[in-house]
Amino acid sequence: MIDLAYSILSADFAHLADEIATAERGGGTVCHVDVMDGHFVPNITFGPPVVAAVRRCTRVPLDVHLMIEDPDRYIADFAKAGADWLIVHQEVCRHLHRTLSSIREHGMQPAVVINPATPVETIIEVLPMVHHVLVMTVNPGFGGQSFIPRCVGKVEHLAALREEMGLNFRIEVDGGVSNDTVAQVVKAGADLLVAGSAIYAGSGDPAKTESNAVEFLRRANAATRSLA
Ligand code: DX5
Ligand code: ZN
Repeated sequence: MIDLAYSILSADFAHLADEIATAERGGGTVCHVDVMDGHFVPNITFGPPVVAAVRRCTRVPLDVHLMIEDPDRYIADFAKAGADWLIVHQEVCRHLHRTLSSIREHGMQPAVVINPATPVETIIEVLPMVHHVLVMTVNPGFGGQSFIPRCVGKVEHLAALREEMGLNFRIEVDGGVSNDTVAQVVKAGADLLVAGSAIYAGSGDPAKTESNAVEFLRRANAATRSLA
C-alpha cells in the first residue's frame, strides 16, 4: 500500500486547513509536518502549536519530521500536540536507541531519518524498533530542491535488510519526489512518499493541487504494479 504524505511546507500557510483538505481530496493519506530550528538546518518553520492546529484539521496520521538539535527536549511537547509518528535525525541523536524508546513511551510511533551523506549501516541496530525509516533524497531544510539519485541505493539496501531481518518497518522518501522521480523510489521499495512542491506547486489553486496529487499517486501505483 502506497501512502502519499503531503508536506505542508509548500502549502499556503494562510489557508492551511483548506490546503490540507485539498491534498486529502487528491488522495493524500498522511500529513507530513517539517519542524526546523535554524540550527540543524538553515531554515526555521513551526513548532508544537502549529502541529496542534494541524491536528484539529485532519484525522490522518501526523508524520512529524524533526529537523532540530536535541529532539529529546521536545518529545513530550509533540506528543501533547497530537503527533502520531515522530521522526528524528540519526545525525543529532547521541543516544538514538534511548530517543526512539522515549518516543514510544510517549505514545507515538518512532521513526529515524538519514541525510544523503549518512549510510544505512549507522541505523541497523535500531531497525527492529522503528515504525519507519526516512531516507532523505535532498539535504534537509527547504522544499523544491532537486532529487539526489544516489540515495535510491539506500532505499534498496533497507528493503533488502527488512527482508533479511524479518522486519516490517516502512520506508519513506523525502525531497524532490515528483512525477519524474516517484517510479524509481517505489521500485526501490519506498511506500511512504513525501511530496511538497510536487503537490502544492505554489499554485494556490485547489483544483490544481488536487489533480497534482491524483497524478502523483497514479504514477506511484503504476510503478508498484510494474513490480508484480
Ligand atoms: C525538506 C523537507 C521536506 C520538503 C520536501 O527538508 O523535509 O519534507 O517539504 O519538499 P519537496 O517535496 O518540494 O522536495
Ligand atoms: Zn520532511
